[in-house]
Amino acid sequence: MNTEDDTKKLGFLGCGNMGGAILEGILEHGALSPKDILVVEKSSERRDFWKQNGLSVSDSVEALTGLPNIVLGVKPQSFDQAASDLGILESPAMVMSIMAGIDSMRISGSLGPKARVVRVMPNTPCAIGMGISAIAKGAHATDSDMKTASMIMSTVGRVVEVDETSMHAVTATSGSGPAYLFLLAESWIDASMKAGLSRDVAEMLVIETIRGSAELLHRERDAVSLRSTVTSKGGTTAAGIEQLERNGIRESLVQALDAAHRRGIELDSEITP
Ligand SMILES: NC(=O)c1ccc[n+]([C@@H]2O[C@H](COP(=O)([O-])OP(=O)(O)OC[C@H]3O[C@@H](n4cnc5c(N)ncnc54)[C@H](OP(=O)(O)O)[C@@H]3O)[C@@H](O)[C@H]2O)c1
Repeated sequence: MNTEDDTKKLGFLGCGNMGGAILEGILEHGALSPKDILVVEKSSERRDFWKQNGLSVSDSVEALTGLPNIVLGVKPQSFDQAASDLGILESPAMVMSIMAGIDSMRISGSLGPKARVVRVMPNTPCAIGMGISAIAKGAHATDSDMKTASMIMSTVGRVVEVDETSMHAVTATSGSGPAYLFLLAESWIDASMKAGLSRDVAEMLVIETIRGSAELLHRERDAVSLRSTVTSKGGTTAAGIEQLERNGIRESLVQALDAAHRRGIELDSEITP
């Protein structure tokens, strides 16, 4: 990205866990220079943190005025307040909303037609450049906005373009996905300790198993055949897998994604029209 180009300047409205993960990735990748980034944050600790990293910070949304690209990184529940503070945008801006649930028409309804909205659903591995972000063309967004959003998000991982109607399903799958895996890891470590291992050994075995298996899956893509390779009939893995199946691991995931999907729809309806 050409950092001399003013059109590439980027502002964050709310830069907490997820916005911060994206920003860390952008800085680590060197995609933008700190002088091209402005963080508007309510939290003084977060402002101090980004200031120490050489970024411009502010607690006032007015500081975003005139910036061509804005990442909307507040929680959906804070959107109403953030939008009323920001007001109707008076100069054109590409607004990349990372908020779960909130429809681009709703965002545009609050920020006005000068806001060209691209919906982005990232996930926290963006902090180490290994995120996956889905992007969707929303209200008033142009093909050029999609290219810019894709370029920004590709600095922190892979990018896939979807239709906005798929965003709830994406959120339930990959936006929330890291937490599903961390819950699995946490329970797996607890189970290993119950099986007699120390925490240190259990953590090392589980974390390295997840890491190696994820890499294998990434290279070979075929989860079914990888699983069958390690599951010999009548063996120990088969016994463990049968128990997971009996306890409904597949249906648990279906229900988890369904609950996350429904929550996304609710978040949109909880915002004042
Ligand atoms: N966390 C994830 O894994 C993940 C994944 C994909 C998408 N997302 C989306 O990312 C968004 C942010 O989630 P998060 O987990 O990063 O939340 P977070 O850690 O709470 O970050 C949001 C930040 O925005 C600040 N803020 C709120 N209103 C503001 C305003 N009007 N002006 C300036 N700053 C304001 C908050 O400050 P205060 O805390 O002081 O209010 C907070 O520091 C959400 O919409 C979520 O749907 C999250």
